[in-house]
Amino acid sequence: MFYETEKNDHGLARPPFKSIAVPRPIGWISTLDADGKPNLAPYSQFTNLTFDPPYVLISINTTPEYKRKDTTNNIERTGEFVHNMVTYELMEKMNITAAPFPPGVDEFEAAGLTKAESVLVKPYRVAESPVQLECKHVQTIRLPGTSSVGSADIIIGKVVGVHIKDEVIGPDGKLDMLKIKPLARMGYSDYTYVDKIFTITPSDAAGDEGDRSLGLEGATGAFNK
Ligand SMILES: Cc1cc2nc3c(=O)[nH]c(=O)nc-3n(C[C@H](O)[C@H](O)[C@H](O)COP(=O)(O)O)c2cc1C
Repeated sequence: MFYETEKNDHGLARPPFKSIAVPRPIGWISTLDADGKPNLAPYSQFTNLTFDPPYVLISINTTPEYKRKDTTNNIERTGEFVHNMVTYELMEKMNITAAPFPPGVDEFEAAGLTKAESVLVKPYRVAESPVQLECKHVQTIRLPGTSSVGSADIIIGKVVGVHIKDEVIGPDGKLDMLKIKPLARMGYSDYTYVDKIFTITPSDAAGDEGDRSLGLEGATGAFNK
């Protein structure tokens, strides 16, 4: 089948597009409003952009009332946010924080989550989450939409601090993803989590001798010549 997105004539019972870039990690973004009240919400249009230095991206749509969501307003007003990794165990609490609470409602309290102080930014971390990224706002790119919820604010943040719980670091120095079980979004109301890992070594089909696995790992020091 083929369909044109402007016509949206896919003919399927459910829109397929959000099932195509999957699985998507869930940015669980905590912020403070201008009065210092905490806010927490999940965003699966989230990814790392680059790693030296590390940047992340969150894409936040407008509401059916054409309004910006609390997370967008808070990041643009305060310049800071924290990403908290969502795990299989935290899925129900994450889901509660997605409810359209009015501004000023503390979703940490609504979901029964514990606040942990950050080191370099003011928004709290989710203490139950095994990995958190402290971020500073760098830039927002606004994309026009074709419906009230279609406009998106692409928020780019620089990661200034990384928290990793010691118990999820394996003896090989790698994050133990089978222990963490990161949760990810599929299309529709479907989710998945990491329960299988395998390794692929970089191909030498181009005849090069370099250890490109260092680049894939983000071992930037290896390239400083
Ligand atoms: C798993 C999950 C992923 C979501 N991803 C997005 C997203 O990428 N962009 C978006 O605008 N809303 C997304 N939402 C909806 C927001 O979480 C929801 O609108 C929330 O109420 C926004 O809260 P806020 O106004 O406090 O920022 C997602 C919801 C869930 C449950």
